[in-house]
Amino acid sequence: MNPFSYGTIVRSPYFFNRHDECRRIVSTLSGGNNLVLFAPRRFGKTSLVLRALDELENENYTCIYFDFMPVYSRESFIESYSKALIAGQSNLQLAIKAVSSFVKGIRPKLVFDQAGNPEFSIDFTENKINEKTLGEILDLPEHLASPGKRFIIVLDEFQEINKLNGENFEKLFRSKIQHHQNVNYLFLGSRTHLLNDMFNNKGRAFYNAAMLMQIGPLPQEETIDFLISRFASSGIQIGQPLSLLIIEQAGNIPYYIQLLAAEIWQYVINSTQKIDKELVIKCAEKIVDLKSDYYYELYDKQSSYQKKLLKALVISGENLFSSGYTKQFRLTAASTTQKALAGLIESGIVEKTEGRYFIADPFFKRFITRYA
Ligand SMILES: Nc1ncnc2c1ncn2[C@@H]1O[C@H](COP(=O)(O)OP(=O)(O)OP(=O)(O)O)[C@@H](O)[C@H]1O
Ligand SMILES: [Mg+2]
Repeated sequence: MNPFSYGTIVRSPYFFNRHDECRRIVSTLSGGNNLVLFAPRRFGKTSLVLRALDELENENYTCIYFDFMPVYSRESFIESYSKALIAGQSNLQLAIKAVSSFVKGIRPKLVFDQAGNPEFSIDFTENKINEKTLGEILDLPEHLASPGKRFIIVLDEFQEINKLNGENFEKLFRSKIQHHQNVNYLFLGSRTHLLNDMFNNKGRAFYNAAMLMQIGPLPQEETIDFLISRFASSGIQIGQPLSLLIIEQAGNIPYYIQLLAAEIWQYVINSTQKIDKELVIKCAEKIVDLKSDYYYELYDKQSSYQKKLLKALVISGENLFSSGYTKQFRLTAASTTQKALAGLIESGIVEKTEGRYFIADPFFKRFITRYA
């Protein structure tokens, strides 16, 4: 089996490090604070948070992980959120009873599938969801929790609540959770700029609602050790310089490091070939080949100014609005650059961290270098 894993939430042995970050998450939440976690895409937020939840569960917190991504309407939110809350309780029958008496607008039921496994279904008792029902659902965690049974709720892809009729929902959510005494919330999401605006913009409901935490790339030394030992687990040798090359080619982003390493492993496992510099580059190129249809379409969709900016970003992501940068890459007014950049950020192609802009997918960056 491939000793590298990417694209899904990872646990040990595919997950390493993040000890300090994990400790900070656990102590902030167990200290009674809410937290919002920021990191660019595919840095390992969800995996880290689930790791922290394991620890919090060991400390007897009732932990609930809820993903906003599949939620598409207020009804679907009510349904899946109440199901997640009930499923997190030790006594399901009791939880169902508590929910039915607290939220008048829904009737949860426990049913059994053909294999005899319990499943929930939720019936709505009204034709239209009203604000009262929604408010009660949002207060449900506090109702189910108690000082001796504290809850931690993780809301992943939280920026997606914008789908649920924007500001009203956001305001209602905030107004409810700020009174919760026995529940703490951890917010995260993959669309950093949207999440950032929700929590850092004074005009938004969630301004000051949580402590902020930023996570960066994995430390290089430990990533090298991880690569060496994972390759070694299938009898493949790789040294420090080549491990470093993998990290560099993958833009030092955890997901892409594992993607490239998995591709290299696939290449060498059935051959006598050793890993060398040419092979690392060949595998990086192969990943671009495999995705080139998608990359081509993505690139083609951008305006000509955005294409120009992307080419500039391949070379440098710093001081974008300086006259030097404008001159070097033959850009026009800063306002035009700003607008083009906003579009690239909105579509997730470009990200910003610590004042530097970068192309989020290092293989798309390679594609641009190759074709543009
Ligand atoms: N601590 C880690 N050790 C090793 N690999 C990791 C680690 N964290 C993340 N990864 C790699 O990154 C991939 C993405 O992880 P995860 O889904 O947790 O990131 P994310 O930041 O939540 O992503 P997204 O922004 O898409 O929601 C994993 O599948 C794995 O390959
Ligand atoms: Mg995630």
